Amino acid sequence: MGLSIIILAAGQGTRMRSDLPKVLQPLAGRPLLSHVLDCSRALGADDICVVYGHGADAVRSVFAGEPLRWALQAEQLGTGHAMQKAMPETPNQNRVLVLFGDVPLLMPETLSILLDETPVDDVAVLTVDMDDPAGYGRVIRERGSVSSIVEEKDAGVDEKAVCEINTGVMLCSANKLKGWLKDLSNDNAQGEYYLTDVIAMAVNDKVEVHGIKASSPVEVMGINDKKQLAEAERALQARLVDELMQAGVGFADPARVDIRGTLTCGKDVFIDINAVFEGNVELGDGTKIESNNLIRDTRLGAGTIVHSNCHIEGATTGNNCEIGPFARMRPGAELANNVKIGNFVEIKKSTVGDGSKVNHLSYLGDSEVGTGVNVGAGTITCNYDGAAKHKTKIGDRAFIGSNVNLVAPVEIGEGANIGAGSTISKSAPANELTLTRAKQTTIKGWKRPVKKES
Ligand code: UD1
Ligand code: CA
Repeated sequence: MGLSIIILAAGQGTRMRSDLPKVLQPLAGRPLLSHVLDCSRALGADDICVVYGHGADAVRSVFAGEPLRWALQAEQLGTGHAMQKAMPETPNQNRVLVLFGDVPLLMPETLSILLDETPVDDVAVLTVDMDDPAGYGRVIRERGSVSSIVEEKDAGVDEKAVCEINTGVMLCSANKLKGWLKDLSNDNAQGEYYLTDVIAMAVNDKVEVHGIKASSPVEVMGINDKKQLAEAERALQARLVDELMQAGVGFADPARVDIRGTLTCGKDVFIDINAVFEGNVELGDGTKIESNNLIRDTRLGAGTIVHSNCHIEGATTGNNCEIGPFARMRPGAELANNVKIGNFVEIKKSTVGDGSKVNHLSYLGDSEVGTGVNVGAGTITCNYDGAAKHKTKIGDRAFIGSNVNLVAPVEIGEGANIGAGSTISKSAPANELTLTRAKQTTIKGWKRPVKKES
């Protein structure tokens, strides 16, 4: 039997108080909906349908190019109404698993249990016990089986006291679901077509409804406001860090690191406090990330150390490099092995060869730096003439003195020496000393101007 997963994602999310549609709010750096999509794909569904409506253009454009079926719910008249929009194109012979775009922490393992344990002709809902069930639909049972789901706003005192709640996840054959959805009414406190009313209809038709309990309320939490979004963020971060610790990664404090994307680590990696990883980051064996670093879309080779307070984006390094403290690596910064980038150094779109050092207060942009080069403190490449960027090439073993301006395009030969304080705008030959400094003179008896007494 095929599986269709229908993800309800049309709601506005009024309680977010945001211009961004709820399902696009970021969790671990990615839209809520993309977490639900990951989980859906992991279940191997042959048909994934997203019901969208609020912020339609924005939602579709974020997921353009992904193999999804889209069902437009232009007016949001409730979760049952949303399902009515998705069902016509859903194959009759499939089982339908309903997920919510605002329940992003669900694990495929939990849903696999639901799929495996529910006989194909029965219905299942995923439930959970909550200390504080306020706001959720309550699961009403009779002799163990689920008999109905009552929404908070329609619940009486006894029903409100029930702590088992509906997570929103439901499993049912497409065929039966189509029939029941036709009979929904909106005669309730919110004037909405509730998907949850299908449960009482199933029971009425003598179909068994299984209430399968999830193990933790965290996994099934629905995100309605910024407070819940922040709670979910912490929960997901804890999960991601747990997985990494189990794989052998060391953290000074598992609660003080954020992973907004994919972090892949080798053996014996150590990460100190307040490190933020974004996009795709790969850390080789034995790398060490000191405190307060932002590292985005970057690959660091084995044994590399990032000292405190660096901002690194779109960079790659070989092995045993040292970066920072207080360094900035911008997209296209490529270090070979054993390179040292020191404090207050900015590297952009430049390659730096084996063993080269740029230790203090420098800017290298659009450069090709050879091996064993020493770039003195305060040296910068003047790579931009106001209209275009130009390249600087520095040959192997060159020694650039302090405070040198390299006016690009310019080439420094192998083994060349550049005198401190020079502004180099023509190529400097290999193995020679080139400098542009004026000769030092002393003006004897010269006096500083003094203020006149008035
Ligand atoms: C819903 C359930 C409730 C459950 C809770 C779990 C119903 C009637 N209630 O309540 O039993 O405990 O989720 O979190 O199903 N949506 C649409 N179109 C609509 C309305 C909603 O696509 O017309 C989508 C929303 O984008 C959201 C999901 O459905 O992703 C849930 O909607 P929401 O309004 O948050 O439902 P709850 O009131 O939380
Ligand atoms: Ca909700």
